Amino acid sequence: MPLTVKPLHPIFAAEVTGIDLSRPLSEVTVAEIVAAMDLYAVCVFPNQPLTDEQQIAFSSRFGPLETTRKANRPGFKPRLDLRVSNISNLDENDRIMARDDWRRASDLGNRMWHTDSSFKGTPAKYSLLSARTIPASGTETQFADLRAAYDALPEKKKQEIEGLVAMHSMLHSRAKIGYTDFLPEEREREAPVPQVIVRTHPGSGRKTLYLASHARDIVGLPLPEACILLYDLMDHATQPRFVFTHRWSVGDLVIWDNRCTMHRAREYDMTQVRDLHRTTVSDVAPTVEQAGLQSRVA
Ligand code: OGA
Ligand code: MN
Repeated sequence: MPLTVKPLHPIFAAEVTGIDLSRPLSEVTVAEIVAAMDLYAVCVFPNQPLTDEQQIAFSSRFGPLETTRKANRPGFKPRLDLRVSNISNLDENDRIMARDDWRRASDLGNRMWHTDSSFKGTPAKYSLLSARTIPASGTETQFADLRAAYDALPEKKKQEIEGLVAMHSMLHSRAKIGYTDFLPEEREREAPVPQVIVRTHPGSGRKTLYLASHARDIVGLPLPEACILLYDLMDHATQPRFVFTHRWSVGDLVIWDNRCTMHRAREYDMTQVRDLHRTTVSDVAPTVEQAGLQSRVA
């Protein structure tokens, strides 16, 4: 059965039906999904209840999967397989996390615009998020199209930011919401990594911004100037015209391309269970290497 791809927004995001993601897929079908992703950057697959094993098997068709770094924290008790990120308000005993649980900081951090794993040398390519349980009062995730945002920049701004490299760190985005309780070894492991601000999206050949809450400063720029430039670019990129809002139903699987979008969780009723499971496909190389800009950070 051929896939049906229906646009959900004037510039990006589509709904994909006519497929069962719990079953092994042919190379042709996987290529069709990649083609839809290259065009739309966010694909919503409604009514795809998956087990973690099925989600891992499907996600692995797009490349190697990341494992969560939180597992390195002393005393960390995994709730899920380490290839599956616990995007929920549940602890390892399936109870709603205590208000002062350190994992809440990372949950709340997802409410700031970001792209996944830009704080890792080689960041994420795709994220696949599966809705297992959602609050009765609803829950949403928003996405911003950074290729369209790049296209809409004035020519002068495009020239100004070409070749710039930002330093990204998880410590920085968490500090923005007042969470600084990191161990010395975590500070070392989470040292800032370089990422280009403008990249070419490999699947479409289009130029795109590459931004996140994790971006801390810009190599070679005075810090206040770098911060203001990052704030301005974030403001520009998240204007309503570039944003698609997904309202979750149980069984939805949403795939997004972290190379050319940002996303953020929206506020929800945290007294109710919200349980989503994420698998994350790694990109192939650091963005500076893909852009041939290693010398900027040497
Ligand atoms: C994520 C994420 C947003 C949400 O899974 O990477 O940022 O709405 N999720 O849970
Ligand atoms: Mn995320």
